[in-house]
Amino acid sequence: MSSNVTINSEKQVLLIRAERLKAIREMASSIAHELNQPLSGIRAFAENLLISIEKKWEVKDDEIKHKMSRIIEQVDRMSEFIEHLHDLSNNEQEESVINAYTIIKASIQMIAAKFKSRGIALKFPSESKELFIKVNPFKIEEAIRKLLYNSLDAIENFTVDRYDLPKSVVISLKTTDSKIIIEITDTGGGIEQNILENIFDPFFTTKSNGKKLGLGLTIAKQIIEECNGDLQIISNLGIGTTAFLTLPLYKKNV
Ligand SMILES: Nc1ncnc2c1ncn2[C@@H]1O[C@H](COP(=O)(O)OP(=O)(O)O)[C@@H](O)[C@H]1O
Ligand SMILES: [Mg+2]
Repeated sequence: MSSNVTINSEKQVLLIRAERLKAIREMASSIAHELNQPLSGIRAFAENLLISIEKKWEVKDDEIKHKMSRIIEQVDRMSEFIEHLHDLSNNEQEESVINAYTIIKASIQMIAAKFKSRGIALKFPSESKELFIKVNPFKIEEAIRKLLYNSLDAIENFTVDRYDLPKSVVISLKTTDSKIIIEITDTGGGIEQNILENIFDPFFTTKSNGKKLGLGLTIAKQIIEECNGDLQIISNLGIGTTAFLTLPLYKKNV
């Protein structure tokens, strides 16, 4: 598979910067979504308890305990999310040794609501062992999000009657002796064989709504290669697509 990622003019560099800024705006809307959900939950539990007290209804201790714990759970969820945003704004350039599961979880957390609202199941691996990589985690997250957005577009644009087909994006994590491979598989419409070699080219897009610049894969590949990794895509027309994001495994005790 050839990639030909060449950014060859000042204008292209500016457009890439604009695309990355657009990604930040998109993320702001996802953040609003993501915070709204726990806030609505907290409000509902608190309001329910307040009404019970005002109306002097008998409320069992267990029920109060349950509602209070749910409120605390939701607050913790928001805190974790906000903490991550804080890291994101402070640490943009830093490389660190980090567990690959943590990066996957963080990339998903920012956009999970978008998948949920479109009825797309987003599955990801639960942490089973420590798999470290030495990268700027925020860059890898950005690359993963670009791939996830492509999967989301592919599923949304796949218009065949698909009542028996699942709408899903599955992320899995594999390893070799020296590498980790993050695989992202979707059940979108796939990619025509004859354009497969163009998809990493700057400004190559098949999306005609004018909103897409065709820079997602260019940027994702650039980021992964900067981290000494590799990005490949294979696809089956009408069945789906898998992206393979490979990064060097970091061995802590060597
Ligand atoms: N998961 C996918 N399923 C189907 N087609 C894909 C997928 N990922 C990428 N593509 C194809 O590659 C093209 C380039 O992707 P990208 O660089 O992200 O640009 P954009 O999303 O702006 O079109 C897309 O327009 C689409 O044709
Ligand atoms: Mg894209």
